[in-house]
Amino acid sequence: MTVLQLLAIISAALLLQGAAGIGVIVWRRRALAAQPAREAGPAARAPSAREWPGWRDFRVVRRNFEDAAKSQCSFYLRPVDGAPLPAFRPGQYLTFSLQVGGGPGPVAGRVLTRCYSLSDCPDPQNYRVTIKRMPSPAGRPDLPPGAASSHFHDRVQEGDVLKVKAPAGHFFIDADAALPAVFIAGGIGVTPMVSMLRWCAMAQPRRAVHLFYGVRNGADHAFKHLLEELAATHRTLQLHVVYSSPGPDDVQGRDYQHVGHVGLELLRSCLPHGRHQFYVCGPPAMMQSLVPALRAWGVGEDDIRFEAFGPASGRPAGPVTSQPLPASPTSFEVRLDRSGRTLVWNGQDANLLDFAERHGAAVDSGCRTGSCGTCEARLVSGTVHYADKPDHDIASGHCLLCVGKPQSALVLDA
Ligand SMILES: Cc1cc2nc3c(=O)[nH]c(=O)nc-3n(C[C@H](O)[C@H](O)[C@H](O)COP(=O)(O)OP(=O)(O)OC[C@H]3O[C@@H](n4cnc5c(N)ncnc54)[C@H](O)[C@@H]3O)c2cc1C
Ligand code: FES
Repeated sequence: MTVLQLLAIISAALLLQGAAGIGVIVWRRRALAAQPAREAGPAARAPSAREWPGWRDFRVVRRNFEDAAKSQCSFYLRPVDGAPLPAFRPGQYLTFSLQVGGGPGPVAGRVLTRCYSLSDCPDPQNYRVTIKRMPSPAGRPDLPPGAASSHFHDRVQEGDVLKVKAPAGHFFIDADAALPAVFIAGGIGVTPMVSMLRWCAMAQPRRAVHLFYGVRNGADHAFKHLLEELAATHRTLQLHVVYSSPGPDDVQGRDYQHVGHVGLELLRSCLPHGRHQFYVCGPPAMMQSLVPALRAWGVGEDDIRFEAFGPASGRPAGPVTSQPLPASPTSFEVRLDRSGRTLVWNGQDANLLDFAERHGAAVDSGCRTGSCGTCEARLVSGTVHYADKPDHDIASGHCLLCVGKPQSALVLDA
């Protein structure tokens, strides 16, 4: 072999090695580039409520309390048909149809529709919801406690079968891992946050995440061990637990970080500069003060997402979307076809459901927040306005009474 031949072989070998190296780099880059899509997992797949139509039977396979006061109970649900569950977007909820039977009270023997947020990350075998027992309003022991939540706590046992609609809702984590997420929860509003946190920890472990969680004290502190374990194993998660009224056994620095309420002052003092995405779910007082405060602080509308758990939670003050409001209330005729009644809307009611009920019309309702679809009615003619896009995907030619107002004379198949 001549020196020239040897040199040619060495050059060819070097070229081959170089090409292989470049190939490996390109492959790695491609793999890394594909990572966010894989990381995004269920949140990117955008499953819809139509993944199964209507109601599906789920068996309660486990239940356990999440707080020392035993007022917040998790229910693990497995489909009776045994088929795998579709993924959901962390933050979404399930809708339940509950046959509330037996016992005294105005709701005994009725079918109730209620929504409960999924409180864990997607799992093809189980869904989990966590339900807080709703007592009678403070100072009103004469009023019955929450019907559905009492039913869950007092009657729903392992082995029972429940009717459930597919996951739905527009309050869910943005899968963009580059955006630090700030979860702000009050009380039971922590349930969608736990789902989003668990998903972030699993699918986007490098994403910066803050949880501000306000509760009364250690007795009501739900998911305590889970959250502490997550914070201990994920250095990108900052836990800010705020007790409004710490108990004698609660220790600051061990059980909670701050005393008071979750407010703008606290957020400003804890969050680093820069853009954050805020997710808010809590009681009316928190929602009504915090969401406008975030806007006033300069947080863009796209970076504030919130969920109300019930009509009492209401909508925070101020416009939430850029949707123009309809002209100031004018009188409109509203005809309820089934009862053959024609009523006059004069802007006095918050929505068509309140309006119909005030006039004694029997209309089905569930969540009263535009989430469950129970109050959906066929719109024979006219236009209904929504201040915000409802969570429930309204069927063509229908409207939601609980969050809609007439924008013209209406004829409803209700
Ligand atoms: C999208 C969404 C997600 C949700 N996620 C969760 C969740 O993860 N966990 C959770 O616990 N909840 C959640 N909720 C709230 C849940 O759906 C129910 O609203 C809640 O459980 C209360 O329902 P209930 O039937 O127990 O109470 P209701 O029977 O609806 O009663 C509500 C309150 O009214 C009081 N009351 C009863 N009668 C009267 C009267 N005549 N006058 C005045 N007050 C009266 C009751 O004592 C009670 O305090 C969510 C709601 C929505 C819309
Ligand atoms: S009552 Fe649930 S959407 Fe209207």
